[in-house]
Amino acid sequence: MNVLLLGSGGREHALSFTLAKSKLLSKLFVAPGNPGTAEFGENIQLDVKDHAAVIQFCRLMKIEFVVVGPEAPLVAGLVDDLEKAGIKAFGPSRAAAQLEGSKNFVKELCSDYTIPTAAYKSFTDVQGAKAYVMAQGAPIVVKYDGLMAGKGVTVAATVEEAFEAIDGLFASEPTARIVIEECLLGEEISFFCLSDGFNVIPFGSAQDHKRAYDGDTGPNTGGMGAYSPAPAFTPELQCRTLEEIIKPTVAAMQERNTPYKGVLFAGLMLTAAGPKLIEYNVRFGDPECQVLMMRLNSDLLDILMASADGQLEGTHVDLSDNCALTIVMAAKGYPGAYETGTEIKNTDAANALPNVKIFHAGTKKQGSNLVSNGGRVLNISAIAPTIAEARANAYEAAKIIDWSQGFYRKDIAWRALKD
Ligand code: AMP
Ligand code: GLY
Repeated sequence: MNVLLLGSGGREHALSFTLAKSKLLSKLFVAPGNPGTAEFGENIQLDVKDHAAVIQFCRLMKIEFVVVGPEAPLVAGLVDDLEKAGIKAFGPSRAAAQLEGSKNFVKELCSDYTIPTAAYKSFTDVQGAKAYVMAQGAPIVVKYDGLMAGKGVTVAATVEEAFEAIDGLFASEPTARIVIEECLLGEEISFFCLSDGFNVIPFGSAQDHKRAYDGDTGPNTGGMGAYSPAPAFTPELQCRTLEEIIKPTVAAMQERNTPYKGVLFAGLMLTAAGPKLIEYNVRFGDPECQVLMMRLNSDLLDILMASADGQLEGTHVDLSDNCALTIVMAAKGYPGAYETGTEIKNTDAANALPNVKIFHAGTKKQGSNLVSNGGRVLNISAIAPTIAEARANAYEAAKIIDWSQGFYRKDIAWRALKD
């Protein structure tokens, strides 16, 4: 079958890499894609916000299945519109995508169905928000209620810091709704499940590094590196998470007539009192997807279709027992201001190393040269029997890449290797 994959990052390069291995695939189109996805499919220019244009392209190219990478088209209802047009797609409906689109929606759902999460209150005014912070004390977490690419969250160590965050959010949007919640302590992990609206199957776990610099310091980013599996997430904790968090969520969405289909990415804090939900995302994580795809033995297209078709019962996601690790190479300055268009050399040499894969996240071709085209630019990924070996191989590959304007963390997976 012909498949259309939407998105342009490292996640989509990794998805194209695994979709291309599918026995069911005839031709893969990626919109807009990047120089990495061009290795596995045909990149095309398509305005994803124009749903009619996407539908028209699907009809013209006889696309039988659309895989949506990022959250924005899901929250905008692209899957609903495709399905109305008779085109099958992977991902949740607009109503179900509220699990990522609105933090307040998730918090209310958790409280209605007693799903473990941080205690919270939501506010639409500065005074109310500050009074709550005063009453609760620090540390405390201030969040914008909406999509902000991971940048709408402040984990405030002091009351003053929380006030600053509240003032900042209302200054940039006076009608904002903000969520203020208890600061959870523990190890943070990412857990991925597939749902077909009814059945739930685990896809695997990973750990990401959100802060820009070594030692988990510096500003929050979209993620600077990841590894899978997450050793802290034991089979017992996975079982508990499925029973206490994931299955009740999928059942609640079904009960509300907004069944959840797609990949459900739970950001969890493994607290002393057990796993608690930090947030949901309605897509694969980036860069977590890259490490999951390195480990995947199953036919990805087959399982994504089963999710869309309500046929996940009896399906199993076969992940290699090996460990995968990815290092994000970012442009100097990221997540703040950075330069684009700087030349990157030797990616092919790094990619040629055994059990290494260089995923492109923010690159483009300029003539025959590869140049940077974003904040997070390359994902240096490796797979090996242990996290330590995968890490050594990934750093070996990173050293080969010649990009003077890039930087990367030197301590990916330090938590997993600290003992
Ligand atoms: P979110 O966008 O909700 O994932 O938040 C971004 C990051 O902030 C998370 O990945 C956590 O590291 C941190 N965070 C969010 N909420 C909490 C919380 N209640 N307690 C501790 N850390 C949090
Ligand atoms: N790496 C975290 C995310 O994709 O949201």
